[in-house]
Amino acid sequence: MKWNAKWIKPVQEHQDIAPVFSREFRVKKELKHAELKCTVLGVYEARLNGNRIGDFYMAPGWTAYNHRLQVQSYDVTSLIKEENHLTILIGKGWYRNPLADWARKYQKEMMKFPAACTAVLTLTYLDGSQEIIETDEQWTCADSQVLFSELYDGEIVDGRVIPVYDHKVELFDGPTHTLIEQEGEEIREMEILHPMRLIVTPKQEVVLDFGQNLTGLVEVCVDAHENDVIDLSFAEVLDKDGNFYTENYRGAKAMYRYICHEGKQTHHPKLTFWGFRYVRVNEFPGTVSMDQFKAIAIYSNMKQTGHIETSNSRLNQLFSNVLWGQKGNFVDVPTDCPQRDERLGWTGDAQVFVKTACLNYDVETFFMKWLNDLSAHQHEDGYVPHVVPDVLQNPHASTAWGDAAVICPWEVYLAYGNPQVLENQFESMCKWIDYMSTHTTTPYLWTGGTHYGDWLGLDAPSGSYKGSSSEDLIASAFYARSVELTIKAAEVLYKDASELKELYRKIKQTFQKTFTEYRTQTECVLAAHFKLAEDPQKAADHLAEKVRKAGHLETGFVGTPYLLHVLSDYGYSELAYDLLLKETYPSWLYPVTKGATTVWEHWDGIMANGDFWSADMNSFNHYAYGSVCDWIYTKAAGIQTKEEAPGYQKIRIAPIPDKRLDWLRVSVQTRAGVVESNWKKQEDMWRFDITVPTEAEIIINGKTMQVQKGTSCFFAPVSDKL
Ligand code: BGC
Repeated sequence: MKWNAKWIKPVQEHQDIAPVFSREFRVKKELKHAELKCTVLGVYEARLNGNRIGDFYMAPGWTAYNHRLQVQSYDVTSLIKEENHLTILIGKGWYRNPLADWARKYQKEMMKFPAACTAVLTLTYLDGSQEIIETDEQWTCADSQVLFSELYDGEIVDGRVIPVYDHKVELFDGPTHTLIEQEGEEIREMEILHPMRLIVTPKQEVVLDFGQNLTGLVEVCVDAHENDVIDLSFAEVLDKDGNFYTENYRGAKAMYRYICHEGKQTHHPKLTFWGFRYVRVNEFPGTVSMDQFKAIAIYSNMKQTGHIETSNSRLNQLFSNVLWGQKGNFVDVPTDCPQRDERLGWTGDAQVFVKTACLNYDVETFFMKWLNDLSAHQHEDGYVPHVVPDVLQNPHASTAWGDAAVICPWEVYLAYGNPQVLENQFESMCKWIDYMSTHTTTPYLWTGGTHYGDWLGLDAPSGSYKGSSSEDLIASAFYARSVELTIKAAEVLYKDASELKELYRKIKQTFQKTFTEYRTQTECVLAAHFKLAEDPQKAADHLAEKVRKAGHLETGFVGTPYLLHVLSDYGYSELAYDLLLKETYPSWLYPVTKGATTVWEHWDGIMANGDFWSADMNSFNHYAYGSVCDWIYTKAAGIQTKEEAPGYQKIRIAPIPDKRLDWLRVSVQTRAGVVESNWKKQEDMWRFDITVPTEAEIIINGKTMQVQKGTSCFFAPVSDKL
């Protein structure tokens, strides 16, 4: 974007203290309109005459900063007075924060940047004249109340500090060619939660339980004396003895310390957030009372579109857990987890969850912005980073992680029907295919790479995070899948797909010659779901056999999203429901029986005996396995968009009821209108009530029917296979 304003930075070093920039100005004429545009290297909170400007928490969000930095525009007309004071408080944010240990190499460069800001305030008067106030040497700066603020470690605030704006600022040669208009959804304070319990643990610690694992802030209200201290720590779970447990946060200190001034005060941090359910009160003036605390859930401003409700309360809790997993990890970037010293935009996790994400919430804007960052950080040779924004810079791309470049735009297109996302990403999709084609030891397969494999698969050899599935098979299957989807994208965009089609034909042929046996559940899943096996039905039969033999799923990140689909698509719906409704470890409902309120990273994050799986990699808010909801929407309820008419312009509804559920009610607010698929048992009949916003094809009991817009009702005998 065109940007003429200068960047400013403090002349003196502020060390860990967050500086606050200041500009006073007078409005002499009658004002028609006032607009502030600004951005910073870090995160900021802007105020005019003491009032917070806008609702964007952690603005300007997280992008591939060396290519793209978002500028926000705010209408501040209603905040302007005759005498005005504009302030911009700046924290390290994602820009200058020391992120994961293994990211320090790249980040060292970013951390050298100062807390700089650039802003333009345009005052338009009733007489048509304009006045422009920009960042320049007339601004001043002060030490703010925020003594320390980092993403992993939390915040220290001194409420006694009254900033004195007498520090000089100087011009800084900040980035202007990378500035872009705000593209993503704003992160906002979306929900307020109150503590449900105050616990005194066996270790005699005072702990508040908010009843929900969430991502956000805690606000505290106290009547205190000057120098009193509030000191809090954050945790997702209690251990089996009921004590506060933070080992799984690894290096993240996740603390909050507030030094009070005299009198009544309400405070919450401004430049950081935590992932937590429990808050330990380490220091507090007087007796802790629950009504002095509030949790504020922050996440990207996305609208919920999907609803799932069934007669099984544990399944309903699972759906709630999946929603909270999405809320907590859709904080401008789709992250793996919001609590430990990681919180990165892992491409693999996003790819696994994207379809469910698009059904639960309207995330088109969210993903379009993140995918632009993916393309920005993709290398010339097509390499797709493991995380976007790429703070890791791994030397090799990984299958199923890099494929986010293709799978995410395709799913976003299918969900919302807007080809723009394909238009934006097509070049990136093709580059990713080139990368795979040129980084293999075998033509028409992807072999010999370095991958994450079927990450966290239960069939992993002891001591490994990677399931037992062949990495060459997984990589070749995803190579085929990405080519297949890129062909579809090319067709949507009226581009020539002939070379891609030939490539796909050869990959499939080579795959069939090379991979004749499928040894693991995930191998069967991929061979059948991507239709790469010579006989996909046989691969699915084999899968069913393996699932029955094991008595449970064994899949990791790669196989899990498609597992139930393969079972129900190839005649094993009952087995799919066995897995969905299973309550003992390992299963989706097992964590629910253990009190989970979000989706766990591991099937056995808390083991049956109450022990933790490990301290090292044990997030209780990892959305990947929440991808099972896509099966509930599209198979159990049967709500599908036709590929040739995406965005539910043409709909197919093919529900699969199961006797173990008395009823199921699912709806999706699509761009075409609300689609609803309900079924319930009525004596020995299934009753289906289906609402569609447009003409639709309904398949019940093997019979296909066309219905018009509106609600239709159908019956089928319960005993029949559907
Ligand atoms: C993350 C995962 C991620 C993985 C890569 C982990 O540390 O939390 O979700 O995809 O690394 O294997």
